[in-house]
Amino acid sequence: MRKKVIAGNWKMNNDISGSAELISGIINNIDFSRVNSDVIVCPPFTSLETASELVKNTPIKVGAQNMFFEDKGAFTGEISAAMLLSAGCDYVILGHSERRAIFNESNEWINKKIHKALSSGLKPIFCVGETLEERESGVMKDVLKKQITEGLTGVTSNQMEEVIVAYEPVWAIGTGKTASPEQAEEVHKFIRDLITKMYNKDVADNLVIQYGGSVKPNNAAELLSQPNIDGALIGGAALKADSFIDIIYSAEL
Ligand code: 13P
Repeated sequence: MRKKVIAGNWKMNNDISGSAELISGIINNIDFSRVNSDVIVCPPFTSLETASELVKNTPIKVGAQNMFFEDKGAFTGEISAAMLLSAGCDYVILGHSERRAIFNESNEWINKKIHKALSSGLKPIFCVGETLEERESGVMKDVLKKQITEGLTGVTSNQMEEVIVAYEPVWAIGTGKTASPEQAEEVHKFIRDLITKMYNKDVADNLVIQYGGSVKPNNAAELLSQPNIDGALIGGAALKADSFIDIIYSAEL
């Protein structure tokens, strides 16, 4: 049985004190005895250290939202894997559609980042997803296949144990339009079948595939009860302790 993984991607929200307040709100109100999933918070870089300190005696883990693939040097504005580790991160989100669309990140770059994360001991949350235009023009599966095969080039079966895939249809992100449980399940099944072909059934069966895109307390339970949906990557609803906790509890239903 795969363990569910619920992660909050805070995006560019919350300064250090706002981050501390949100994490305290989660820790002080959640009943961990009700939670079997892994829970991750991904605040902005400036709040990572504070977040790591605050979650230290709890089951919550911390992830970053991006990193660069070089170790150090003249890369103004970039952050290395070692820096994230020193700030207490266990996870890093890579290939988010906002990185792809706004910051022109290619599959090749994302692949280099995945390799750097894995060789450094960070677990990548590898995001893939199609735009509405790609879905409507019938190329959705080709796009996803390209993102996944190019993103995971050279990643071994053993390394796949550390990888989480997040399916985030771009048209569902921040729009309030969630993929229906059937639509999401169809794609998650497609991704798992693709991983079976690329690796083997064992790797595919153990892979956690999260859904992301307007996950809210009122739709999380149905999405998370689909056989191939193993968790959620949550944007807006992760910015309030009560809605984040509600979604975490939904994974247990
Ligand atoms: P929303 O939940 O705000 O749609 O964001 C989803 C997302 O992009 C998480 O990475």
